[in-house]
Amino acid sequence: MRSSIFLPVLSLALGCSAAPHESHQSIARQASTGNASIPGITPNQAPAVPPNQNDCHFQYYTQAIDHFGQHNGTFQQKYNIITDYFKPGGPIFFYQGEEQIYLDCVDTSIAVSWAQQTNGIAVVLEHRYFGESAPFGATDPTKQFEEYSYLTLDNVMADGVAFLDYLKKNVTGATDSKVIVFSGSYGGFLSTVYRQNHPEAIWGAIASAPPANAITNNSKAQDYYNWNIWLNNVYQDRSAEASSKIKNAVSVLEQRITSGTDLTSLKSELGLCNVPTTTDFPLIQVWIQNILNYAAEFNYATLRPGRASAALPLEVVVNITQTQTDPIQILNETLWMWFEPLGYYPCIDYKTNNALWPSVALIQQGVFQLVTCKYFPESSISDWPHGTIFGPAANPGAIYESSCDALLNVSTPTMAELQTKYKYTPEDLQNSTRIIWSLGQYDPTSAVSPNQPGINAPIMTTDRNVSRILYTSNMAHREDLFAPDPSDRDTVIQARAIELESIKGWLGWYDL
Ligand SMILES: *[C@@H]1O[C@H](CO)[C@@H](O)[C@H](O)[C@H]1NC(C)=O
Ligand SMILES: *[C@@H]1O[C@H](CO)[C@@H](O)[C@H](O)[C@H]1NC(C)=O
Ligand SMILES: *[C@@H]1O[C@H](CO)[C@@H](O)[C@H](O)[C@H]1NC(C)=O
Ligand SMILES: *[C@@H]1O[C@H](CO)[C@@H](O)[C@H](O)[C@H]1NC(C)=O
Ligand SMILES: *[C@@H]1O[C@H](CO)[C@@H](O)[C@H](O)[C@H]1NC(C)=O
Ligand SMILES: *[C@@H]1O[C@H](CO)[C@@H](O)[C@H](O)[C@H]1NC(C)=O
Ligand SMILES: *[C@@H]1O[C@H](CO)[C@@H](O)[C@H](O)[C@H]1NC(C)=O
Ligand SMILES: *[C@@H]1O[C@H](CO)[C@@H](O)[C@H](O)[C@H]1NC(C)=O
Ligand SMILES: *[C@@H]1O[C@H](CO)[C@@H](O)[C@H](O)[C@H]1NC(C)=O
Repeated sequence: MRSSIFLPVLSLALGCSAAPHESHQSIARQASTGNASIPGITPNQAPAVPPNQNDCHFQYYTQAIDHFGQHNGTFQQKYNIITDYFKPGGPIFFYQGEEQIYLDCVDTSIAVSWAQQTNGIAVVLEHRYFGESAPFGATDPTKQFEEYSYLTLDNVMADGVAFLDYLKKNVTGATDSKVIVFSGSYGGFLSTVYRQNHPEAIWGAIASAPPANAITNNSKAQDYYNWNIWLNNVYQDRSAEASSKIKNAVSVLEQRITSGTDLTSLKSELGLCNVPTTTDFPLIQVWIQNILNYAAEFNYATLRPGRASAALPLEVVVNITQTQTDPIQILNETLWMWFEPLGYYPCIDYKTNNALWPSVALIQQGVFQLVTCKYFPESSISDWPHGTIFGPAANPGAIYESSCDALLNVSTPTMAELQTKYKYTPEDLQNSTRIIWSLGQYDPTSAVSPNQPGINAPIMTTDRNVSRILYTSNMAHREDLFAPDPSDRDTVIQARAIELESIKGWLGWYDL
């Protein structure tokens, strides 16, 4: 029965709420407004209004489908660049596109502010196979195995390197410009491996929320902090009382379901699509855990559509625990706080595979799933120990690789193979230079990022070029990478300032 939905959503960037499934059934459903297709399931289907040419000027770079001689074709890779502030020799702030349905304008990122302050270039390049930048116009990784065979980590990095080479030639005065790559979440992982594997092209990296320490197919690997322990502590730290009420509510729900008490009524109390059976608790629990996860991970100071359903969602959850006395209603309101604004969840369809996928609508889940199967396995994030507020451990088990094999015809390398090949073993990271791993308090990704000096990150020295961890209180998932906004918390503003001053040091601006 608990056949499927067990990986938590590691989100914008790791939006992995579910492993791929053997059945891979369609989850298109009738929404109240008609048959809305579900973003993230229908490839390239945008949930919110994507940017257009009035928001910013998108351009296309003719990119090689394969950088290693296996195919001679090309595809059009989308980018957006701002050179207004550039003076010869200034840095290039290279925003590596994330696993999104569409490409953001670069002015929605911190790059423009940094470019203004350093006479630099701000540029974002869409990730291959995401959004419009799909070789062969490929749309279905579960069928088009040949088309998707060029989705490799080596090709992703080579795209960036080729594009940057072109930019340096094309933009007058940029020949000797130094490149600072930045991106968040999966993109933070990419930023780390860019710097480690292409130091000739990449001078430094700001890797925000980079899960570079959980790239494993072993859901029980314990040589790092644990995603769900971190998440549990986020709630405990925010409100001991709310945490206790949530824990109690989950326990009440478990009792209610396993004892078969008034299950017909429970369907409407929680807005479920069907009347649960006495064995359904783990499936429903996963939905609750995912929403509590999002509320913490995406606890942004302002509403960010596609990523979160509310501004300050963690505070919304805490408020719910304070205004609701009925434990089941605490869970109901928490769930619907997320789903209702999305508009395409008529009810909670907890039995359908991958039905949680569109709940973080910006993520192009189908293609991202392939990425996680091929070179970014994140099974470890689904480990769920006993003792959290999310209730009894719903251990995901090792369904991950078999799903990858069955559905996507790929076998997943081991953590050791990937770390060695792409130079991010703990020892490699300890020896690394000019990477900042930026971690936020609310973000469970912090638990699976380089986060322990002397273990998976360098011990601090007086050498400012040595890589380091930057931990920021009151910050959500990769929040430092957004463009400045009036809602910004002081700590996030400060994190960006620290990053910029570090970059100036890396560039040697004030060398004596
Ligand atoms: C929605 O889909 C159902 C089943 O495919 C179909 O019968 C119905 O006509 C569709 N409704 C609209 C408004 O498209
Ligand atoms: C690519 O083009 C070169 C030169 O025409 C040719 O020799 C090679 O076989 C082609 N490679 C592939 C994979 O088609
Ligand atoms: C490259 O040069 C062409 C021709 O001058 C120009 O249209 C294009 O915008 C340039 N690309 C970038 C990234 O500046
Ligand atoms: C991880 O991958 C290795 C090599 O493919 C395999 O031997 C091992 O069983 C896998 N571990 C899990 C937990 O699936
Ligand atoms: C569950 O929560 C939603 C959203 O807050 C609300 O509209 C609905 O009435 C609640 N269900 C019940 C049975 O109270
Ligand atoms: C939470 O409740 C407090 C007190 O009622 C209110 O001031 C605050 O705006 C609420 N926060 C959110 C995010 O709804
Ligand atoms: C699956 O991948 C293998 C190589 O890894 C290939 O030989 C085989 O043809 C693929 N299967 C399909 C159905 O494409
Ligand atoms: C890390 O640096 C030490 C000291 O320079 C060196 O002995 C070791 O081989 C390096 N390890 C890696 C993985 O580069
Ligand atoms: C970082 O390294 C660069 C290049 O070697 C050097 O110019 C710069 O002074 C170093 N920065 C600091 C703060 O030591």
